[in-house]
Amino acid sequence: MITIPTQGLDENRSYKLISAAVTPRPIAWTATLSEGGGVNLAPYSSFTFISYSPAKVLISVGPGTDALKDTLANAIARREFSISSVTPDLLQPMVDSSHPFAPDVSEAAALAVALSPGTVIATPFVRDAAVAMECRLDRIVEVGDEHAHRLIIGDVVCFHVAEALWQGDRIDPVAYASLGRIGGPLYVTRGETVTARISRTIT
Ligand SMILES: Cc1cc2nc3c(=O)[nH]c(=O)nc-3n(C[C@H](O)[C@H](O)[C@H](O)COP(=O)(O)O)c2cc1C
Repeated sequence: MITIPTQGLDENRSYKLISAAVTPRPIAWTATLSEGGGVNLAPYSSFTFISYSPAKVLISVGPGTDALKDTLANAIARREFSISSVTPDLLQPMVDSSHPFAPDVSEAAALAVALSPGTVIATPFVRDAAVAMECRLDRIVEVGDEHAHRLIIGDVVCFHVAEALWQGDRIDPVAYASLGRIGGPLYVTRGETVTARISRTIT
C-alpha cells in the first residue's frame, strides 16, 4: 500500500486523491431558475441521497470564480431546484453545461437541452432524463473548509421515471444505466451487474 497522510498535502493533490478515491459518483444534472427566469443547468457529482422519509438529497457546491456558482445562488434565491440523471445519450450536453456560463445565460437554451415543466415546482427538468427529481430547498450547510464549500440539502417533492424503467412500484435498478464520474473527463457506463447477499451470520 502507498500511504499518504493528508497533513501538509497540497490542495491539488488532495483534490485528485479524494475525487479518485470516491468513485464512481452519480451525477446530479441540476436545473435552477435564474433571476430573469432562464434555466440554469450544471452537473454536480458530489451528490447523494441522505434520507428517504422524507426523501432528501445533498449536493456539495465548491467555490465559483468570483461569486457563488449560479446553481447555489439560484437555489438560495428560489428555494427550489430539479435534478436530472445522466445516461450515455446525455453525456456530451451534460459536460458542455459545466462550462462557466454567465449567470443570465440559460445553459438549457444555449445547448438546446429539451425540458419538461416541473409539476410541483416552477423549475423544469431534463425531458430525456431516465429519472428526475423536483426538490425544494431544505437548508444550506457551510462545510467550513478553505474554499467555503456549501451543501445544498433538498426535499424531493416529486420523482419522474421513464416508463421503460418502471416496474410497477420501483425503478428497475439493472435497466437504469446512469453514468458514473471517475475523475476529470472520465466516466463509466454500466458494466456487468453482480449479486451478493449476506452469506453467514457471525455471532
Ligand atoms: C461531471 C461533473 C461533475 C461536477 N461536479 C461538481 C461538484 O460536485 N461540485 C462543484 O462545485 N462543481 C462540480 N462541477 C463543476 C460545475 O459543473 C461547474 O463549476 C459549473 O460551471 C457550475 O455551473 P453553475 O455556476 O451554473 O452552477 C462538475 C462538473 C462536471 C463536468
